[in-house]
Amino acid sequence: MKKRIFSGAQPTGQLHIGNYLGALKNWVALQDEYEAFYCIVNLHAITLPQDPSTLRKATLDLARIYLAAGVDPEKSTIFIQSDVAEHAELTWILSCISRMGELERMTQFKDKGKGNTERAGVGLFTYPVLMASDILLYQTDLVPVGQDQKQHLELSRDLAERFNRDFGETFKVPEPYIPKAGASIKSLQDPEKKMSKSDENLNGSIFLLDDPDTVTKKIKRAVTDSGTTIEFDESRPAISNLLSIYQILTENTAEECVAHFEGKGYGHFKTELAEVVVEFLRPFQDRVREFDDETLLSILKPGAEKARSIAADTLRKVYERMGIVG
Ligand code: TRP
Repeated sequence: MKKRIFSGAQPTGQLHIGNYLGALKNWVALQDEYEAFYCIVNLHAITLPQDPSTLRKATLDLARIYLAAGVDPEKSTIFIQSDVAEHAELTWILSCISRMGELERMTQFKDKGKGNTERAGVGLFTYPVLMASDILLYQTDLVPVGQDQKQHLELSRDLAERFNRDFGETFKVPEPYIPKAGASIKSLQDPEKKMSKSDENLNGSIFLLDDPDTVTKKIKRAVTDSGTTIEFDESRPAISNLLSIYQILTENTAEECVAHFEGKGYGHFKTELAEVVVEFLRPFQDRVREFDDETLLSILKPGAEKARSIAADTLRKVYERMGIVG
């Protein structure tokens, strides 16, 4: 029996190459070895002010991006969170065993709520409970997540253990999956910060749907460190970040990359890097366009049905254990 993995991304903001290299590429690699569930978490996307007219489009566009990246519906289950009502139902149940104190300690709530609990949405506060429901409904073994989501995963484990203790063995306690070669791509404008969807400086990120001109401009404008050589060097995070992008996309070793640019300057390097990124994005964007809405729904509908059959089993057990149904 294959172990089960579950992961998801929110249909907010645009996905960038950091999301691809740090998460999506990994999801694709995992789908042979694991039984994978990849969810588009649109219910998480309404925890901050949102624009209804863009949410539906962003939800389908994110599905297109999963598919274009190589998530294969023959191997993995791809679905939209709101198509499986059990996610919202289990969230209520788990809210009843969550403690205010443990949710108050979540750093993402403190960051996104800007420390203003008077005005922060209750949905933002219980965001990690919804995430726990996503994971626990599927009796998930492993959850591939970035560093920023570790604390939420820890909460999912705590809730699973607490429920099992109080009401009897019901949930599998999930483990984090830490990718072997996890790539953390930094902002092109500030190599101390992660490349981020919510970065206000759009020049910091290369979005997966950027056109070639935009990509080239952003790379030309990327900050570099003082120094002239093209090398991996901890004291020169900007050039190291750019070189990582080059290395992962060309699938060369670090040594090969450094040797390739020996004696070359920043200008030459940036031109070549821009070409590599543009040539990576071109076929990716072609694939994104291939998935029309009809094709997409023919993948997402059976995905949701499969997900739902598993989620419903888990939720029935939960209701029985709690005395809600007989
Ligand atoms: N909170 C995650 C993020 O922002 C997205 C997410 C929602 C998720 N549910 C999940 C990730 C379940 C892994 C498993 O990145």
